Amino acid sequence: MKKTKVLLIGAGGQLGAELTQGLWRIYGQDNVIASDIKDPQGILKEGRYEKLDVMQRDKLFELLKRHEITQVYHLAALLSATGEKDPRWAWKLNMESLLFVLEAALELNLHKVYWPSSIAAFGPTTPKGNTPQDTIMDPTTVYGITKLAGERWCEYYFRRYGVDVRSLRYPGIIGWKTPPGGGTTDYAVDIFFKAIREKTYTCFLAPDTYLPMMYMSDAVKATLDLMEAPAEQVKIRSSYNVSAMSFCPAQVAATIQKHVPEFTIAYQPDFRQAIADSWPKSIDDRPAREHWGWRHQFGLEEMTIEMLTNLARVPA
Ligand code: SER
Repeated sequence: MKKTKVLLIGAGGQLGAELTQGLWRIYGQDNVIASDIKDPQGILKEGRYEKLDVMQRDKLFELLKRHEITQVYHLAALLSATGEKDPRWAWKLNMESLLFVLEAALELNLHKVYWPSSIAAFGPTTPKGNTPQDTIMDPTTVYGITKLAGERWCEYYFRRYGVDVRSLRYPGIIGWKTPPGGGTTDYAVDIFFKAIREKTYTCFLAPDTYLPMMYMSDAVKATLDLMEAPAEQVKIRSSYNVSAMSFCPAQVAATIQKHVPEFTIAYQPDFRQAIADSWPKSIDDRPAREHWGWRHQFGLEEMTIEMLTNLARVPA
């Protein structure tokens, strides 16, 4: 078997830097190449890096061959809110880049591919509470449509060609190192930054909007646990439901106020309210727990303490 060499595409995004560090710990810094369309930022400057526009298929293939890559984590995408501003571009970027990676996996015999799906793949007639793994999926955002279609393509490549592709339906991810970009769940990150720096926050979702959420270290753990699991334990090849907690803006504000009593919140819902209202409030992730042993660590209280403590140390 060839030595494992990993390429991350979209490593400059919210999840990318932390996932890169997780992969450094498993495979060593020398065997992990981070890539993004932008120049490297922050911690990514410390490791191996290639500037890559994933829409340039030839450059992607050339890079995969040159570094003898065996595993790809394809994280580049336009998220739910930005996708609505240019739906045609969101479709093109999200779908074509996934197909390039799946084609590369087949042509170049990659050992494994990781591609994230999302709670956005569900829609308004999906059961909202404890949303099951297999249920109605009728996404209303172009981002969600690309995630549902992408899940189908992943399963197709697995069934038809045996490509070992694995995926998770992420809930909103909350971390303090890298800001998110263009999502509907982003309020749950922003609120912590504003609580520390300005002591006040105006939320773009209504106070009682429940959404499934996960702390960054759990999201990294879920991804690496899935990717490290023996292939026979990965029984779902579209995408696994994963969850950790579910809360609404009023709850996270009240939890922050226990630690920052002067913190205030106001509400001004915008177009993202309709997107949030079309998504599940909580997720049933029993298959992930049963098949490959998924366990989360952080709930709202533990996460709040981590976020506030770490952000208080970072200069604004
Ligand atoms: N966090 C993403 C978003 O809000 C959901 O996958 O778009």
